[in-house]
Amino acid sequence: MYWIVGMALLLFLFFLAAFSIWNVYAIIRGAPFVPSAKKRVETMISVADLQKTDTLLDLGSGDGRIVRRVASLVKEARGIEINPSLALWSKVLNALQHKKNVNIRCADFWHYDLHDIDVLFVYCIDHKMNKLEAKVKKEMKPGARVVSNGFKFSEWKPAKEEGGVCVYQL
Ligand SMILES: C[S@@+](CC[C@H](N)C(=O)[O-])C[C@H]1O[C@@H](n2cnc3c(N)ncnc32)[C@H](O)[C@@H]1O
Repeated sequence: MYWIVGMALLLFLFFLAAFSIWNVYAIIRGAPFVPSAKKRVETMISVADLQKTDTLLDLGSGDGRIVRRVASLVKEARGIEINPSLALWSKVLNALQHKKNVNIRCADFWHYDLHDIDVLFVYCIDHKMNKLEAKVKKEMKPGARVVSNGFKFSEWKPAKEEGGVCVYQL
């Protein structure tokens, strides 16, 4: 019995260590894992004007709470997450909740092409917003929207602003 508890504890510590190391890498490449509050997610959804034909991407999808929440509202909900432990956890939750139109990829979003994305959800960090603005303007199609939690683009005026969330229209 004790060995089972010991193994479980060891597994948990291994997962925690892996999470922490990857979180440091995430800070360097973008932002740390800070999950969006439930109320803020609802604000993002309400201002995004989501359509059943939309392909939505959560840029740095964390534990996947946003993609799972919007799955029934869009055609496809994608998440891209640099931290393998978070990506794995999201995939487990997706499988348990039978979310068929949710896809999580473990990768660096700076290398992900945004050309076919209709709605981009962003919860990044202030000093990465200029680089992100350039990427979005270069890759996203006309008519696409960017919904940013907390942080604004410096050069770009939001089309809508509500409860700490900004919507940008391409
Ligand atoms: C502030 S959290 C937001 C999590 C989630 N979108 C939410 O709102 O609950 C930022 C997430 O982006 C991930 N991340 C940071 N830099 C990244 C990068 N370059 N590529 C992919 N994911 C990244 C982090 O690991 C973290 O999970």
